Amino acid sequence: MDFIDVAQKRTSVRSFSEEGVSKEALREICRIGGLAPSVNNFQPWRFVAMANKDKMSELAAVVAQKIEELPEKSCELGEQIKKQVEYFSIFFEKAPAVIFVFVSPYESVLERGVTLTHDEVNRMRAYPDMQSVGACMQNMLLAAVNMGLGACWMTSPLIAKHEIAKMLNVDSEYELAAMMVVGHASHDFPPKPKKEIDTIFEFVS
Ligand SMILES: Cc1cc2nc3c(=O)[nH]c(=O)nc-3n(C[C@H](O)[C@H](O)[C@H](O)COP(=O)(O)O)c2cc1C
Repeated sequence: MDFIDVAQKRTSVRSFSEEGVSKEALREICRIGGLAPSVNNFQPWRFVAMANKDKMSELAAVVAQKIEELPEKSCELGEQIKKQVEYFSIFFEKAPAVIFVFVSPYESVLERGVTLTHDEVNRMRAYPDMQSVGACMQNMLLAAVNMGLGACWMTSPLIAKHEIAKMLNVDSEYELAAMMVVGHASHDFPPKPKKEIDTIFEFVS
């Protein structure tokens, strides 16, 4: 598919058919993700792909529990908002596959030579580690569209990121940064309206 078509066709898909996604397809999506630019070409990512319904339900239950445990504000909406957040956090259990994207800490060139801490440099540079993961995630989403699949970027399940990392047996040096659900869309999802370019673009001559 032409790149512009892929970018325009991409939209978040949260409802899937029963058809599975092969290990090879998941691997290829991650390979394309890994082509993304990253700070110092550090490629701070590591991918874990899962297509096991029982394990996905187990993880979803942990996420739901963590949301349930959140203290509510003293307003009527508290319970309702938690239900809504729960939906957008655990629908991955019904997807054919999920890819977990972990990030490892990087050392910037600057922190080797000046007294700023890693966190100070990271904040000053607007979190290049997470920006790298963002670039990787977008590559993965576009790869999925190009393969005729639907996908959705997720971070709300990260409320249980430590539990998820533990259940997946991932080295503690890595932190869960994002998830992508992927499968065959249950039906056509039209892309969401986006801002008109002239309302968000400025050119300084
Ligand atoms: C960093 C990030 C985190 C997101 N986390 C979630 C999530 O946890 N659950 C969810 O249902 N959608 C999530 N989304 C998808 C957004 O809701 C979606 O991209 C947005 O509504 C725009 O819709 P579109 O992707 O169809 O253009 C996330 C998107 C991004 C970029």
